Amino acid sequence: MSSGIAFVNGRYVFKKEAMVNVEDRGYQFADGVYEVIAVSKSHLIDLDAHLDRLSRSLAELEISWPCKRRVLVLIFAKLLKRNNLKDGIIYLQISRGVANRNHAFPENTVRSSLVITVSKLGRPSEMKFKEGVKVVTMPENRWRRPDIKSISLLPNVLGKEYAHKNNSFETWFLDLDQTITEGSSTNAWIVLPKGELVTRELGTKILGGVTRARIIELARSAGILVTEKSFSLHDALFAEEAFITSTTSLVMPVIEIDGKMIGSGKPGPTAIKLLKLYEEFCSRGGRE
Ligand code: PDD
Repeated sequence: MSSGIAFVNGRYVFKKEAMVNVEDRGYQFADGVYEVIAVSKSHLIDLDAHLDRLSRSLAELEISWPCKRRVLVLIFAKLLKRNNLKDGIIYLQISRGVANRNHAFPENTVRSSLVITVSKLGRPSEMKFKEGVKVVTMPENRWRRPDIKSISLLPNVLGKEYAHKNNSFETWFLDLDQTITEGSSTNAWIVLPKGELVTRELGTKILGGVTRARIIELARSAGILVTEKSFSLHDALFAEEAFITSTTSLVMPVIEIDGKMIGSGKPGPTAIKLLKLYEEFCSRGGRE
């Protein structure tokens, strides 16, 4: 359930009444970026990493910050207070601003647009974490810069719909070379038979997940061998375990890929352990 008050271009407004201009380039061209930040017991989980990634996405697309970074943090705090939100998510979107529809960038006097909403929409059900979820695959069909957290998400939307139509939780994108890039809204992980934890390396082919980075750090601190390298669908089908990570899915065990059971067909010990470590990290405040 989304909560009542949103922040739209400098004003706190009732979400029901919140509106953007039809000439907003976010609406016209999906010319913008976004972030989703988890709120857990009033803590903003890995806030700095989210703001660093936002900064990078904006820089890559040459969109200017709509306000100072510290002002953004103040708005977050105010929105959480006004909505009385202690657990949920913050959604933030910045577009290149409002201008007559024309593909090229508008004059640099056009200010970027900022919309922030909060939502109680929480984590998946406990049952999903207990039982694990199914994944299907489809050919990678996104643009070549999914490392930028752009609001242009049509292939991701179609990917998620494909999962739902196939009674699954997520779709993993399969690249031409038969390697898995990532999920439609999550990063992909496997545990190889010898216990090595593998997730694809950073680069232009995946979004650098904030949860991914945190899980790498937590796993290494716990003595688990983590390798950042690409893995194939074949590797995944014969893995001991598989799981996905994201701000909203945390660490979600995967028990089936394209109809084939993974490992024992139950959530594996590595995923269970990492979920526990991640939850402990969040309850410590979700920062170093
Ligand atoms: N999705 N890969 C993609 C394509 C994503 O959209 C996301 C996040 C991730 C994981 O990133 P993080 O750990 O920083 O959440 C990976 C968000 C939650 C969303 O679109 O709702």
